[in-house]
Amino acid sequence: MKSNLQSIRKEYIKGALTRNSMPSNPFTLFNDWLEQAIEGEVNEPTAVLVSTVSPEGTPSARTVLLKGVENNELVFYTNYKSRKGTHLAQNPHLALTFLWHELERQIHIEGIAHKLDPKTSDEYYNQRPYRSRIGARISPQSQPIPSRMQLLRSFIKESSRWIGKDIERPEFWGGYGVIPSRFEFWQGRPSRLHDRFLYELNKDGEWIINRIAP
Ligand SMILES: Cc1cc2nc3c(=O)[nH]c(=O)nc-3n(C[C@H](O)[C@H](O)[C@H](O)COP(=O)(O)O)c2cc1C
Repeated sequence: MKSNLQSIRKEYIKGALTRNSMPSNPFTLFNDWLEQAIEGEVNEPTAVLVSTVSPEGTPSARTVLLKGVENNELVFYTNYKSRKGTHLAQNPHLALTFLWHELERQIHIEGIAHKLDPKTSDEYYNQRPYRSRIGARISPQSQPIPSRMQLLRSFIKESSRWIGKDIERPEFWGGYGVIPSRFEFWQGRPSRLHDRFLYELNKDGEWIINRIAP
């Protein structure tokens, strides 16, 4: 390693959070921040790290793209037989992490995932580009495959099978809706004295807000 990692550091100066500026419902701030990330020059503003836990209790994380915020649920699409899908089938608890470097912001969300109803997954699948629909059908996501060549052969074979027809969504591919029970909003501040606000649902379904230490 040529670079001196210990010397890489920056001051965070782009924003601030105060208790008075925090809305009572975390979705309000989540939607504002997401909108600002989309409108700003943020690279991949909808990219979100999804962390799941295996039945043995081992954590794992990977990035997906957020495809909706509806009825207080966050929606992403994937292969239900993938590693994350098999984890969620046994333990629906997950964590989502949005990191928007350009805004010096991060949001941590924890909640429970459930499969979307097939009709909703169909609607999204049917509006995906042709190649993405074929790709979803032929990729045994997270499984070992012999070669890239074999993947391409499957892609070409499957493409020719659907010429002139509506490509069907495979039952192993679809959406998850995430129902959050915890949000943490992080805004970088100078001297590492960052602003962090935590929203947690209490037993009565009310959001309790606390500033937490950086
Ligand atoms: C920017 C970005 C966006 C991605 N979006 C998705 C997505 O929306 N759905 C998906 O299944 N995988 C997506 N991936 C691939 C996943 O990170 C991951 O490789 C895949 O879902 C398999 O994960 P698993 O084996 O842990 O289940 C994306 C990767 C990147 C880097």
